[in-house]
Amino acid sequence: MSLKHVVESQQFTVPLLMELFDRSRLMERIVARGGTLDYQNRILASLFYQPSTRTRFCFEAAMHRLGGRVLSTEHARTFSSEIEAEQVEDSIRIIGSYCDVIVIRHHETGGAARAAKVSPVPIINAGDGAGGQHPTQALLDLYTIYRERPLDGLSVAFIGELDRGRTVRSLAYLLAKFERVKVFFVSPPELQMKPDILQYLDRHGVSYELESDINRVIGEVDVIYQTRIRADRLKGPLRYAIDSTVLQHIRSNAMILHPLPRTVELDKKVDDDPRALYFRQAANGLYVRMALLTMLLDG
Ligand code: CP
Repeated sequence: MSLKHVVESQQFTVPLLMELFDRSRLMERIVARGGTLDYQNRILASLFYQPSTRTRFCFEAAMHRLGGRVLSTEHARTFSSEIEAEQVEDSIRIIGSYCDVIVIRHHETGGAARAAKVSPVPIINAGDGAGGQHPTQALLDLYTIYRERPLDGLSVAFIGELDRGRTVRSLAYLLAKFERVKVFFVSPPELQMKPDILQYLDRHGVSYELESDINRVIGEVDVIYQTRIRADRLKGPLRYAIDSTVLQHIRSNAMILHPLPRTVELDKKVDDDPRALYFRQAANGLYVRMALLTMLLDG
């Protein structure tokens, strides 16, 4: 199945997801033996207009493990011609003539879609704007869940600052592709999930609830997907944190995920709990992104 760009989660079908996950399993084996040189003549450009630790290093490591090479700017807003008011379209046309695939994180919602419209090579959206998407994060999130349990019949609680949660938005789109999924959106009312996602879930027959009390949900779900709440957006005390007390009420076989980075909403004491899978989740990103790169580069 061919894949031209990765801009939004909606473009993935279930068969395409399964192909990606099969390739990701293969990448696990390839990494275990040190990688491959199969893509040694291919070049990835990573163009990040916003900070990143995981996504940028992960894509660059993925390309290196495939034998390819990497061009990189980690702060494109300062260290690219954007500072001279160059439009992203012009930057992409130029960079696309030097490489085989571009990974872009852009500060504007729709920045990656703009790039894909003009790019001569595949574009991968590594996060766009405050209300956009982060589809490759959602793909690795889903892969982490898939490695543990069936995706049909899954119950998931998304917790945190959901209105600007691009990872949550992307994962909600993916979950809507599976049967009998139940979603809880847990946040202060002013930070709740935006109507576009809720309308999408309605159209796809996905059952969901909006909740502001974490205690009414945490014992009910297979997956707790915790996200950040920035301090400047939180009114009143933090009532949405996962800590030792909350852990006691979570199902014994539940999974705790977090796209990271974290702040106070996920206590470090949770890290040693066997249900805490967020570091494995981040590690799985390498396999999923290697698989995605091969799908794009094989064309
Ligand atoms: N999860 C994630 O996108 O992390 P970074 O911001 O470090 O890339």
